[in-house]
Amino acid sequence: MVGGAERKTGSAMAWVVGYTDAVGDLAANPNRPISAAWATSVLDVRMRNPHFVDLLDRFHAVNPGATPSEALRRSLSAEQDAILAAQDAGDFPFPVYPSEHYTDPKAWPEVYRWLRQNQQGYGNRYFTNLVQRELATAVSQRTIAMRFLGRVLPHIVGEEPQWANCGCSDMSGDRRNWLSGRDEQFRYGTVGVEEEQALGGLVVSRFMSDIFNDIVSEPDDTRRVVGLDRNDPELPENIAWRRACSTPEEIWSGVWDDLHDRLMLADVPGSWLGFQLADFSRRADARRVVEEEGQFDGVAALFSWYQGSAEIRRRKLKNMREVLLRAGGLLVIADFARTVARGTYLMPEDIWGRPTIYANDGDRLVPVLSAGNGRFERVRVLPGLIGLAEGGPHAEDVRRLAGD
Ligand SMILES: C[S@@+](CC[C@H](N)C(=O)[O-])C[C@H]1O[C@@H](n2cnc3c(N)ncnc32)[C@H](O)[C@@H]1O
Repeated sequence: MVGGAERKTGSAMAWVVGYTDAVGDLAANPNRPISAAWATSVLDVRMRNPHFVDLLDRFHAVNPGATPSEALRRSLSAEQDAILAAQDAGDFPFPVYPSEHYTDPKAWPEVYRWLRQNQQGYGNRYFTNLVQRELATAVSQRTIAMRFLGRVLPHIVGEEPQWANCGCSDMSGDRRNWLSGRDEQFRYGTVGVEEEQALGGLVVSRFMSDIFNDIVSEPDDTRRVVGLDRNDPELPENIAWRRACSTPEEIWSGVWDDLHDRLMLADVPGSWLGFQLADFSRRADARRVVEEEGQFDGVAALFSWYQGSAEIRRRKLKNMREVLLRAGGLLVIADFARTVARGTYLMPEDIWGRPTIYANDGDRLVPVLSAGNGRFERVRVLPGLIGLAEGGPHAEDVRRLAGD
């Protein structure tokens, strides 16, 4: 039984139980040993502490639309942000341990105790990030979804398309898209394509993976990508938060810092890349972008649709469809979501499992890919892509990839 939650009733209790389940899943994930150690320490120590459970309640009160998994990601990221900031400023009271240290669940409670003491305001920083800030990871491999779909659906997106990337964060992913075919060090990582086995399990198919990765590495003819984000990606606090939103494995192994820095420093022509400080849930902002850039052949939202209330999510979808996208263009949404009302509307999933990537077929959103996790190291090609790919150069490949 969760200590601090014992006094709760009804939906608040259900919400904390959802959070506990999500933490339990993370604790049992052998592929993410640092995250698993953090989650184990949360289950063993923190969930028995009424202060922590109250903190979760505050999060829930301020973010009623957020899923327990989002609370989970944010509580981990908020803690990482405080640790990284304290380490960078020389304020961290513990030695800067090697990454293996953090695979020990006993390492985490002492960090949390320090946060609760709020020395130099790091506890307040943790609280603000947990309760008020939305996740802002920029994981550069994710733009592979735009690239792959652009290659298999050129009859929809058109020749030399112009894309809008809504919620682009710092555009490191878009930079990678441009650089991947031109500079070996920025090539997308190999994606394993999964197929369903007779007994329902998913296995990676070498054959399908080769097809998928060949399509991704074809030369890309995108003319321009315009990123929209409502947060200024250059503000130091946003840079720090973005870094903290990555997985502990990416941070403590140094992979994120290294790749990210190289991507941000690499030369990408300004004619190819544009950025607009804009909130795509606001019609006036969307219109302003279109006045300056024209409508877009492709409009994508990669893990940026779910943030905000149901009303804000509804407006984001409407503005993408009605303002940003040209008639007949390609809409791409990657999120933890499912479609309702015959595909005309999206609903966020309660627990973040496999993200689904949707493309538009007329007014409907059709699930076309599902990814093993938010990092796109594995995908599954869904039958919904077959119809859309008809008439394009990869119709047959897509049929094979979808196991048809
Ligand atoms: C989880 S991050 C994802 C970033 C990037 N697309 C990726 O896949 O790594 C969500 C991003 O969407 C942005 N965002 C969320 N709602 C937005 C809105 N209404 N208008 C503009 N940007 C928004 C956030 O500021 C943040 O940078």
